[in-house]
Amino acid sequence: MRKLTFLLFILLINVLQSQKFDNLAQTPPMGWNSWNTFATDINEELVKDIADAFIDLGLKDAGYEYIVLDDGWSTRERGENGELIADPKKFPSGMKALADYIHSKGLKFGLYNCAGSKTCAGYPGSRGHEYQDAKTYASWDVDYLKYDWCNTGKLNAEEAYITMRDGLKAAKRPVVFSICEWGDNEPWKWGKDVGHLWRVTGDITPCWDCELGHGNWSSWGIWKIINMRKGIREASGPGHWNDFDMMEVGNGMTQGEDRVHFGMWALFASPLIMGNDLRAASKETLEILTNKEVISVNQDPLGIQGFRFMNENDIEIWIKPLANDGWAINFVNMSESKKELNYDWKKEHIGDNTVNRNLEVDKFTYEIRDLFKKQDLGTTKNNLKATIEGHDILMVKLKKK
Ligand code: GLA
Repeated sequence: MRKLTFLLFILLINVLQSQKFDNLAQTPPMGWNSWNTFATDINEELVKDIADAFIDLGLKDAGYEYIVLDDGWSTRERGENGELIADPKKFPSGMKALADYIHSKGLKFGLYNCAGSKTCAGYPGSRGHEYQDAKTYASWDVDYLKYDWCNTGKLNAEEAYITMRDGLKAAKRPVVFSICEWGDNEPWKWGKDVGHLWRVTGDITPCWDCELGHGNWSSWGIWKIINMRKGIREASGPGHWNDFDMMEVGNGMTQGEDRVHFGMWALFASPLIMGNDLRAASKETLEILTNKEVISVNQDPLGIQGFRFMNENDIEIWIKPLANDGWAINFVNMSESKKELNYDWKKEHIGDNTVNRNLEVDKFTYEIRDLFKKQDLGTTKNNLKATIEGHDILMVKLKKK
């Protein structure tokens, strides 16, 4: 009997260890990642400046928390004992000191690695070193790991990500685990028990709807990304998010396009990871990134990913149910010229069958708030009338009266 109890105890310990860290990323993670602007040209001063900018520019106050170093932070080879080493030229004080700096500002620290033998930029990958690397991250007080998929040969994705998840669990420091295999192996089908977010496509690039070829792979404009994955919204929710990639707000699109990008990522409950140089960000870019009303749609506690409702006269209408019977609605002008919106709330029934929620405009009145202009726009008793510039958005929140 004693032996049986002991065996059951061991089994329970094993089961508990082979689970991801619970209760992390209950709302979509918010932060900054170095890749979109700096690629491997990263260093200690830059990261400290970004941490300072989080405080000085009101980004921390708006909810941004994680500062994530992407590819290129380590030396080209592992150390004598197979350990990862921070590049001493780029990070002379070491990763633990950098983590301490970030933590001293009340922020969290993330790193990047890869399931393959090498990262995408050719630095040491974690294959065969998963548990060792997880211990290294724990010793540096890392809070977030983005884990990529280059140089993986015939590895099975789910198994490879489970190995790293278990390594992180064994190292005992809670880490948000960000799966980055570009949607190739449909992580929305298996990612929930493995990580806290998973990329749904290949890399983003700052354009409206372009495809940028790089030989054997492409990067994608925002509308290519939005339209690439249909029917996966049910996979997303508190603790397990569809990740539409790091944002390109402030990286070259027009202000209207940046608003559309931010408003759509918010409506998708996608992680909001900034990818611009915060030290050089314009007032207009910061106004978009720190818009608390839009962010509150993204961070809504129900964590429901929005969906496409219809297209009327080149205006895309996307919808997201919110807590307290609220709704977020994005009206996006897909054309390049100005459009007049005249939306009759009674014309089409708005509802979300998957969560059994309906906008009951016949029974109730909803107050309408323009989230980018921060203005009240009356109620659903009347048609919603507005001018929307080309490639721009009217994002509204409906609140039951
Ligand atoms: C892949 C990822 C990017 C970035 C680079 C780094 O392309 O999808 O987000 O991490 O690798 O090399």
